[in-house]
Amino acid sequence: MKEHYMKNLSEHLSHRAFRTVGRAADELGLEAYVVGGYVRDIFLNRPSKDADFVTVGSGIELARKVAELIAEETGRKPRVAVYANYGTAQLRDGDLELEFVGARKESYHRESRNPIVEDGTLEDDQQRRDFTINAMAICVNAERFGELVDPFDGIADIESKSIRTPLDPDVTFSDDPLRMMRAIRFASQLGFFIVPETFNAIRRNRKRIEIITKERINDELSKIIRSPRPSVGFKLLDMSGLLELIFPELCELKGVETQEGRGHKDNFLHTLKVLDNVAEKTDDEWIRWAALLHDIAKPRVKRYDPKLGWTFHNHNFIGEKMIPKLFRKMKLPLNEKMKFVAKLVGLHMRPQSVADDGVSDSGVRRLITDAGDDIEALMLLCEADITSKIPEKVKRQLEGFSRLRVRMDEINAADNYRKWKNPVDGNEIMERYHIPGSKVIATIKESIKEAIMEGEIENNHDAALNYADQLALSLRDEIEALGGNLDAISIAN
Ligand code: CTP
Repeated sequence: MKEHYMKNLSEHLSHRAFRTVGRAADELGLEAYVVGGYVRDIFLNRPSKDADFVTVGSGIELARKVAELIAEETGRKPRVAVYANYGTAQLRDGDLELEFVGARKESYHRESRNPIVEDGTLEDDQQRRDFTINAMAICVNAERFGELVDPFDGIADIESKSIRTPLDPDVTFSDDPLRMMRAIRFASQLGFFIVPETFNAIRRNRKRIEIITKERINDELSKIIRSPRPSVGFKLLDMSGLLELIFPELCELKGVETQEGRGHKDNFLHTLKVLDNVAEKTDDEWIRWAALLHDIAKPRVKRYDPKLGWTFHNHNFIGEKMIPKLFRKMKLPLNEKMKFVAKLVGLHMRPQSVADDGVSDSGVRRLITDAGDDIEALMLLCEADITSKIPEKVKRQLEGFSRLRVRMDEINAADNYRKWKNPVDGNEIMERYHIPGSKVIATIKESIKEAIMEGEIENNHDAALNYADQLALSLRDEIEALGGNLDAISIAN
């Protein structure tokens, strides 16, 4: 099998850059190899936009030479970014990002804080990498162009879909504990298995994850979430003991409690099922986050009521409130993505309750107005949230949602509630009744919204203003106490 690959490898290095790097290395009298993820991805048929080169010599010198040759070949010299402390250099050639490093005796990873690295041979460098599948190298020097150097049989591990460290896993993981998460991420992303020896070492070394920055952990979490079946990654995180350390709130969802012979579902497994269901429908990372977090408040509000059984009242609203705190704690982005996740968590019970209430027009209007342009994402989450094992229940819920979708389309076609804005704004109310900014304005606007949602008045400016006037008259005392007056509208009415 190895020979088969060896024969063909040069074909996989068709980008001009590989020959150019080889020529530069030859001119400098150095050996150069493409290594790591790029090589792995050739065998996995995954397109790659980054190529890491390792040379037995100076990576920076090689990068500079490559830039000169590219200038000769194309007439345009690429800019070389040099990181002298780390002995690395980067440049871009067309659509390929090239990174150069000298072979090292110590652990290699991009974010390494440790700038002191001792020069080593190619094999020294390969054995300090994370996994055998990432420790393969292909020579680019002209004479050996396309020759695979695979001392740890990464090819066999690719074929058997195995994640295995090249050295004793305790050594590999203590070099960089993030690799424990990378192992799980690769398993989830590529559908690989972590060999027992490596997995046991993750369990043993799990506590070391605490020295890793939250940003690096989040990069891996995000890759797990974006993988085809994210539950694979989360179950491995849980089994390894890492989840408890990096995301205890998820662990709290685990388990089933029973009272008077009545149990509730395991909310951890349910959450992962919802996440997988969402992942089947969308690649959007943030809808996936919303799925992961939709029931996050359940452990906090769980109660047993002898009449009702297990209840999780308001877990959606409490969950919505938990999101900003959780994002801050985990150093996830505190931006519109976070708001989107919080919004979906807050609204995730609503479509079901509108459907259960017989899809009333007012319920539908409110739902579309509150969800706005996120209504599709919300429906997707809610449909994914149906995980019951009772076929009749699933059927009933799905039917309810499809009735709801039809009614939403009808109502929205008549009046675009997705973009709904109160037809009367605060300034207009202040000017009309001569009052300063105050709570009365919010009261009036809220009442207008209610009346429109309930279908009591039409959704337009005239109807809303007329309604506001009636309200203002009934609030005359409050308005006058604020120094306002209703003379103009009193006469008209
Ligand atoms: N590497 C490592 N330990 C790490 C990170 C990276 O040994 N903690 C090595 C591996 O050989 C890896 C290479 O550096 O293949 C490049 O790392 P990186 O670009 O971060 O990852 P890729 O393996 O290319 O995979 P991906 O792009 O999916 O992150």
